[in-house]
Amino acid sequence: MKIIIANWKAKITTEADAVALARGSDKEGLVVCPPHAFLDEVRAAIVHASLGAQDYAPDLSARGATHVIIGHSDRRREGETDDVIAEKIALAVSDGLIPILCVGETKPERDAGETHEVLKRQIRTALSRIPAETAPIFIGYEPVWAISTTPGAEPENPTDAARKIAFIREQVSHGSYRAMVSYIYGGSVTATTAGGFLEKENIQGLLVGGASLHEKEITNIWQQAQKA
Ligand code: PGA
Repeated sequence: MKIIIANWKAKITTEADAVALARGSDKEGLVVCPPHAFLDEVRAAIVHASLGAQDYAPDLSARGATHVIIGHSDRRREGETDDVIAEKIALAVSDGLIPILCVGETKPERDAGETHEVLKRQIRTALSRIPAETAPIFIGYEPVWAISTTPGAEPENPTDAARKIAFIREQVSHGSYRAMVSYIYGGSVTATTAGGFLEKENIQGLLVGGASLHEKEITNIWQQAQKA
């Protein structure tokens, strides 16, 4: 069984839609990440799924969240630095939350051959302020050029994603960081493409954006993750 993280981003805009989608996504092994404004309603609507937030905030654990996405490319694009991300990871861990750190290169960085350098810097800095024994933590490889909302998004292929994740794992184990880390992939994953990623041994789950907004689609992806 592999984990599925549903990142609704800002696409769900009414309480009724948030509650309906939460009910339709209420599966064990699925982490639902609604917009901050709907955390309470979604918390009340789910029994089996876990509640995640899309960014760190001091009230998350009080509102019942167990997971938090940190360093998503939408935030990095708005100017969030690696240092701010490191600070948020440390705050999340001290609040007892499970951080889901997103890392990934942009298209210009990829085209300039800087992917490894970027991933190395993002990981080393993000993990620099938490104790080595912190557990658990997720690291999501999300190439920015493969995310559905990036103009001209191109799909990443599972073999290359697994290679990048192998590199990320190496960075984590070369550092002083020894915690239990799970590695996941995100970027334009759909019910059709999920299987290719899930069959890779070192991809332990998926971060799903656009496809998580459709009950049938997210259910299908979750079912595939159960068998993986
Ligand atoms: P996507 O989003 O699946 O729509 O590409 C993934 C993400 O931004 O986390």
